[in-house]
Amino acid sequence: MKVTIQNLQQWKGEKRPIVSLTAWDYAIAQLLDSAGVDLILVGDSLGMVALGHSSTLPVTLEEMIHHTKAVCRGVNRALVVCDLPFLTYQRDVSQAIESAGKIIKETNAGAVKLEGGYPAMINTVTRLTEVGIPVMAHVGLTPQSVRILGYKKQGKTPEQQEKIFHQAIALQEAGAFAIVLEHITADLAQKITKELTIPTIGIGAGNSCDGQVLVTSDLLGLSDKLPPFAKPYANLRETILTSVNYFAEDVRNRRFP
Ligand code: KIV
Ligand code: NA
Repeated sequence: MKVTIQNLQQWKGEKRPIVSLTAWDYAIAQLLDSAGVDLILVGDSLGMVALGHSSTLPVTLEEMIHHTKAVCRGVNRALVVCDLPFLTYQRDVSQAIESAGKIIKETNAGAVKLEGGYPAMINTVTRLTEVGIPVMAHVGLTPQSVRILGYKKQGKTPEQQEKIFHQAIALQEAGAFAIVLEHITADLAQKITKELTIPTIGIGAGNSCDGQVLVTSDLLGLSDKLPPFAKPYANLRETILTSVNYFAEDVRNRRFP
């Protein structure tokens, strides 16, 4: 059975942690889905992970749709959420409806995710939800604002904490069905998780969140640079390099085939 946004809310009530990872193609998506990952995020981190950009800023809506289609072909059970990339939703509500609508119409994603909790974005989440597009919110370190925030931990001062806390409440009231808390203090994430009725999905936000998400290439040891909060559970870079070296050696010595 397909995971629904109602399931996620129910699991929060049951204190059953939500397992989430990112995917950018069919092969990874199929593996994650068969391992029972609940929520598969086609994150705009694919700009770095799959496309070689140095930030998420250059990623286009067409690229997100292209990769989301591939991911959806590999998924039977998980809820697939597609990131709205930089400047495809921030201009105004009508741009957001057009971009999110294109994702929902052209792919089998069940929801979209967008960054930010400032007043205009609250309005956008309300309208998207009203027209029938489920929205996952994302506050704290929002990588599309890297030029302003850098990649530093957020919510270190009481003023910042207050701001992020109220953003999270406003996003829930606007209709967001879940919220990503990225790189904020564990105390703040715990406080938000207690206050909200929608599930919080943490990344670098301590262990009190209702679920955890990681970029899959960080988990697998495929990334060349790791964020401080990532935990590599494997070293696929080494596995791949070793295999390719063996193959190259065999070819050069006419041992393969
Ligand atoms: O793009 C992404 O991978 C994300 C997650 C890190 C939450 O937004
Ligand atoms: Na993202």
